[in-house]
Parts: sequence; structure tokens; C-alpha cells
Amino acid sequence: MALENMTIGFIGAGNMAEALIGAVLDAGLCPPNRVICADVRAERLRELAQRFGLRTCADNLEAIRQADVVLYAVKPQSMAAVLQETAKGLDSSKVIISIAAGVPLSTLSAYAPQPLRIVRAMPNVCVAVKAGATAIVGGPHARKEDLALAATIFNAVGRCIVLSAEHLLDGVTGLSGSGPAYVFMVIEALADGGVKAGLTRAEALLLASQTVMGAARMQLETGTHPAQLKDMVTSPAGTTIAALHALEKGGLRALLIDAVEAATERARQLGAMAGKADK
Ligand SMILES: NC(=O)c1ccc[n+]([C@@H]2O[C@H](COP(=O)([O-])OP(=O)(O)OC[C@H]3O[C@@H](n4cnc5c(N)ncnc54)[C@H](OP(=O)(O)O)[C@@H]3O)[C@@H](O)[C@H]2O)c1
Repeated sequence: MALENMTIGFIGAGNMAEALIGAVLDAGLCPPNRVICADVRAERLRELAQRFGLRTCADNLEAIRQADVVLYAVKPQSMAAVLQETAKGLDSSKVIISIAAGVPLSTLSAYAPQPLRIVRAMPNVCVAVKAGATAIVGGPHARKEDLALAATIFNAVGRCIVLSAEHLLDGVTGLSGSGPAYVFMVIEALADGGVKAGLTRAEALLLASQTVMGAARMQLETGTHPAQLKDMVTSPAGTTIAALHALEKGGLRALLIDAVEAATERARQLGAMAGKADK
């Protein structure tokens, strides 16, 4: 069944749910009356109903009963209680998507009495500007079309890849999950360089952010290997090669690899701690 003929139920109507709802509606993937939101905050539900014209519900279980696709968007620490409360409304007719960071498929399925079609997703904060990077992985009973449906939703807020194994989500957390913070730091540092060269802070920030976005777009849109793009803008004895030499001396590549590795390892540790807490 296409998304336009399904009802999506959001459990938790916070920042991520808002970004996803806005994108799904903007993309015309389904009409507002086919989106239902549940949250503990009544005023938040009123706000979203007013803004998007969607349906709301104070009762998570009732929202789930009305939904064909259930998207859990509460904080990870609320997931156990929410699953406990709502599991009786879940069955194999529904596609269940969770974006709760670090909550494994085994936890998501442990609360339900029957096998469920679960998709676990790891989006990043850039979904707020429809430039998110999301990876998804299906549980043992998820169908190909369930992953395609989830990918359609996350492609509406950026780009989405499908992973073959759940453990790879730790690396996704280390790369694109935590990655926006690394890039914010890079932008700030580039702007500092511009300020040192005499630009105002505002001028330097705009140029730094636009440069990062432009370079990323060039890579994504051309599909060209970044090393080739770099070579294209590096003229003999020019300014760029002088800067690249400085970056190599500072160990930029190893530093970024270390950063992704450190965050991946931390995600692994937190996942292991969450697994122990489940037992
Ligand atoms: N933000 C990101 O960049 C990002 C990236 C990747 C994954 N995620 C995941 O996305 C999920 C949502 O994150 P978020 O930033 O959107 O969080 P959020 O803004 O705090 O939204 C969660 C919403 O759920 C509500 N809620 C709490 N307990 C509930 C319950 N029992 N039943 C129904 N609603 C309940 C919260 O209300 P209260 O505020 O009153 O608690 C809040 O409105 C998290 O699991 C997070 O790990 C987020």
C-alpha cells in the first residue's frame, strides 16, 4: 500500500516528529488527515494541529490503533515505558519505525507478543532543514516494502541509506549522527581563519558555511570522488596546495577518522549499557 493510503501515527511530537511531519506533508506523501500525533503535552499537540491540520490524540495506544505506520519519536529513556504501554496495540499489519537513538531492534520487539515489522532508523539533526542523513535497518520480520516505505519518509527530510546489519548503526552514529557537530566546529574554525585575514565575523561565517555546503553539494550531485574534486581546484604552486600541506601537517585526515571512531566506540558502549539495562 502507498503511503498516501496509510495513516502515520507519531508517538512523541517533539522536534524530530515535527521535521518529519512537515517534510512528509510538503512532499505530498500523504494528506494531513492521514497523520495522527500523540504526545504527553496537550499544548504541543494543539500547536501541531494548528500548523499542519493533522489529527492529534492524547492517548498513545489510541493513535497506534488508528495508524498503519507507527513512528516512535520519544526520547530513548522514555521508550521502555512507551513500549510497555503501547505494545498491545502493535501487530504484524503495521509497519513500526523507531528513531530512538541506541534502542536496539531486540528491545523494540521484546515487548510485543507477536513478530513485528520493525525498522530502526538513525537520522541526524539536519532533518530540521530537510538535509538530514539517515540510515535504516530492518528487523527480522521487516519486509522489503517496509524498508522502502521508511526510506521514502526519510528521503523527504534529506538522504537515506539502507543498511544490511544493525551493528553498523554504531558507525552511522559516529559519522552522520554526531557528524553535524564536527562540521559546525570546522565552520567555526574556517570563519576564525577569515576573521584573522580581516573579514568581519558575519562575512566569514557566511563564506565558511556556504563553502562547506557547496563542496558537499558538488560531491553529492556529481558523484565524483572527493580526491578528484580536490585535485580540480589545486593548481601548481597555488594557494590551495599551500593550505592542503598545512592540513596534512596538522593530521586532519587522521583526526577526523579518530573522531568518527571515538564516537562509534561510545555508541557501542552506550548500546551495551542499554542492552544490560533491558535484562
Ligand atoms: N534530535 C536529533 O538530532 C536526533 C537524531 C537522531 C535520533 N533522534 C531521536 O529522535 C527521538 C526524538 O528526539 P527529539 O529531539 O524529537 O525529542 P523531543 O523534542 O524531546 O520529543 C519527544 C516528545 O515526546 C514527548 N513524550 C515524552 N514522553 C512521552 C510519552 N510517554 N508518550 C508520548 N510522548 C511523550 C515529549 O514530551 P516532553 O518534552 O514533555 O517529555 C516530547 O514532546 C529520540 O529518541 C532521539 O534519540 C534525535
